[in-house]
Amino acid sequence: MFLSCTFLLFLLPYVISSTPNPWIGRSIYFVVTDRFASSYPNLPSCIDSKEWCGGNFDGLITQLPYIADMGFDAIWVTPPVKQVGWRDDYNGTGYHGYWAQEFTEIDEHLGGPEGLLRLSEAVHELDMLFMVDVVANHVGPVHGGEDVVKFKGILGREGGEQYNTLGRGEGESMDEYIKGTPGPPNAMTDAGEECWPYYDFEEGKCDRNIVEGGWFGDLADLNQTNVEVREYLLEWIRWMQESFKVDGFRLDTALYIPRDFLDEFQEAAGVYIVGEVVTYNFTLHSEYQQHLSGVLNFPVTEKLGAVFNGTMSDLQALVSESRGAGYVDRNLLGNFVDNHDGDRFLRKVGGDVGLLKNALAFVMLSEGVPIVYYGTENSEVAGNEDNRVGMWEFGYDSDTEVGELLKAMNGARKKFGLGWGGEYAETEMEVLGVEEDWFVFGRGELVVFINNIGRGKGGGKACFEGVKWGEGLKVIYGEGSVNEGEGGIGVCVSVGEEGDPIVAAR
Ligand SMILES: *[C@@H]1O[C@H](CO)[C@@H](O)[C@H](O)[C@H]1NC(C)=O
Ligand SMILES: *[C@@H]1O[C@H](CO)[C@@H](O)[C@H](O)[C@H]1NC(C)=O
Ligand SMILES: *[C@@H]1O[C@H](CO)[C@@H](O)[C@H](O)[C@H]1NC(C)=O
Ligand SMILES: *[C@@H]1O[C@H](CO)[C@@H](O)[C@H](O)[C@H]1NC(C)=O
Repeated sequence: MFLSCTFLLFLLPYVISSTPNPWIGRSIYFVVTDRFASSYPNLPSCIDSKEWCGGNFDGLITQLPYIADMGFDAIWVTPPVKQVGWRDDYNGTGYHGYWAQEFTEIDEHLGGPEGLLRLSEAVHELDMLFMVDVVANHVGPVHGGEDVVKFKGILGREGGEQYNTLGRGEGESMDEYIKGTPGPPNAMTDAGEECWPYYDFEEGKCDRNIVEGGWFGDLADLNQTNVEVREYLLEWIRWMQESFKVDGFRLDTALYIPRDFLDEFQEAAGVYIVGEVVTYNFTLHSEYQQHLSGVLNFPVTEKLGAVFNGTMSDLQALVSESRGAGYVDRNLLGNFVDNHDGDRFLRKVGGDVGLLKNALAFVMLSEGVPIVYYGTENSEVAGNEDNRVGMWEFGYDSDTEVGELLKAMNGARKKFGLGWGGEYAETEMEVLGVEEDWFVFGRGELVVFINNIGRGKGGGKACFEGVKWGEGLKVIYGEGSVNEGEGGIGVCVSVGEEGDPIVAAR
């Protein structure tokens, strides 16, 4: 007894530290598979469409070199599993992948299981990591008993015990429950005023039973407390990981899933999982990293648009709140400026490319795993009102202003040791100076000057005593200059009309 205990205590920290997470230092490009690239020629335009547009795994394989050339060393694809063939309340289809009909089949629109495996192999051939999006919270839209039985096996049981059924009356059929009033409570809107965006779960405020046990709109919520459902999902995620050689998963709607199930799901997957927990509440958000290896950095991202339209001391406040929140490992947070669920950042800031470049420089050079949403490099895509346009209409051109920024940032990450296996991959940035329009941080040998002046606003200049001049800083990115401060104290930075971020190396 004594011996085995000592052995365990001794072994555990050693095992953990000897296997560094392969995602630390990676840089991810995220695509909506149906919208990014296709193997079919001459596809029609796809804007504001709720239909399947024709993008697929083989199309993505063709464009992998395009992604790798921008310096990304991982991709994330939207959920590939078979989607329901019917429509939701808003007459939409499951082209995005978040409406499963069958977890153990891969959707034929995208290329089926062979296509997914080909993609995985092609990704690995380019030394990139493969991340697959998965949904374990719910299935597709279910509007009555007639939909319940369209699912196969355990998911299609007429009795409905596979789904959450809060408030279901005794003897009430699934059809009566779903179509009745009030029907299944909505996890997003029926749990109380004090849920979004801080989720105060104190007694009498936001009701966590409804958050975890309600339905996600008309998407039928799986009951992970049901032993068979639980086993089905755990077996499925093992199968996904092994069959398609998945290096990491992105887990949808993790905030709505019971946490004891997240623990088991993480263990069954056996690889990095980055969870979607959408809240402004850093404390709550960080708690999910005790269940999943990573979380998408929503508390920071949700406020980036406002920061770049406000003052940079707001960014400093966000950074220090994030640091104080007690994350297990901030190097495994997924950082991004926008995604497929909201307006693109460029639209949020009124089309100001200068601001987009500054926000991207922050996300790509601070600690965590940067994630860039497809088309960010193309201002017609990134500035589009529709955040899920078919890329084919706009072409695959990364020799653009933002494309060059992405290449430079990914290049700097590798060259200056922030990338995977790099000397500073797990080093946090050091905040060196903050002014209304400026935020300066150091990481390893880099000093990064971010501003929110904006394009065409006359540029600006600022001096920072806190920045050590040392042997001299060399600008490696950005139109602007960095000079020694007066009397040899600190540095002064200036940018012109374009309002670029400036990256310098010691
Ligand atoms: C649903 O969308 C399809 C395809 O756009 C269209 O043909 C159909 O008329 C729509 N149905 C309704 C009820 O709006
Ligand atoms: C889930 O299933 C369990 C046991 O099968 C049941 O006790 C529980 O009430 C169900 N939860 C919901 C939210 O329906
Ligand atoms: C944030 O979440 C924590 C942990 O659940 C909770 O104690 C706290 O009250 C929440 N903060 C707010 C402002 O609701
Ligand atoms: C930026 O802030 C100003 C003033 O605070 C506000 O009027 C404007 O709507 C904001 N713009 C965006 C794009 O958020």
